[in-house]
Amino acid sequence: MIEIAPSLLSADFSRLAEEIGSIEKLGINMLHLDVMDGHFVPNITFGPGLIKDLRGSSKMVFDVHLMIENPEKYVRDFVRAGADIVTVHAEATLHLHRLLSQIKEEGVKAAVALNPATPLTAIEWVLPQLDMVLLMSVNPGFGGQQFIPAVLPKIKALKQMLLEKGLKIPIQVDGGINRHTAGTVVAAGADILVAGSAVFGEADRGQAIQALLNATATIGE
Ligand code: DX5
Ligand code: ZN
Repeated sequence: MIEIAPSLLSADFSRLAEEIGSIEKLGINMLHLDVMDGHFVPNITFGPGLIKDLRGSSKMVFDVHLMIENPEKYVRDFVRAGADIVTVHAEATLHLHRLLSQIKEEGVKAAVALNPATPLTAIEWVLPQLDMVLLMSVNPGFGGQQFIPAVLPKIKALKQMLLEKGLKIPIQVDGGINRHTAGTVVAAGADILVAGSAVFGEADRGQAIQALLNATATIGE
């Protein structure tokens, strides 16, 4: 079963609770929250304060994608704010194993994100610590960018690596996912599709989500 995780980045920030409600009532179970600090990526979004305020209005899994420097300094804040999954970038820390242990000690799920140019070997030796792997299919920082097709063989290679090791870790893909790209991404091995502009950028969220699911329907079964 393919899961869609809408990214709040493309929502209307002047009425976030309403925006979240619009997808939750459609049965969406995971909300992707993009935290950017203007250092690790050239854009700034929001921090734990906003996530804490949104937590009260939703029962969805809060999937917090940290695109920040020094993630180890902020893990606790995001967990206290209500994160259910904390995703950190392998490129943002020198001590990935320690950082993942820190996230697990906080009692939430831990995931690692890899930029398009970062090899899979960056996570090879921490796979047992992971609850999810996020492969970026754009260079992080902005919504509405074009999908990078070079990531498709990378998704396939990760799927193969996990199969060989007998690990059932979901593969999440983030960036440029829409009704035209979703099918190939799922065919390559993705389990969770993050979609910002393809969901919150569309007026009819029900239709937008259905279009994504339809694009993957014959592949993911
Ligand atoms: C990009 C973020 C994405 C972004 C995706 O840096 O990590 O989650 O919201 O937006 P779309 O789906 O529009 O490419
Ligand atoms: Zn993201």
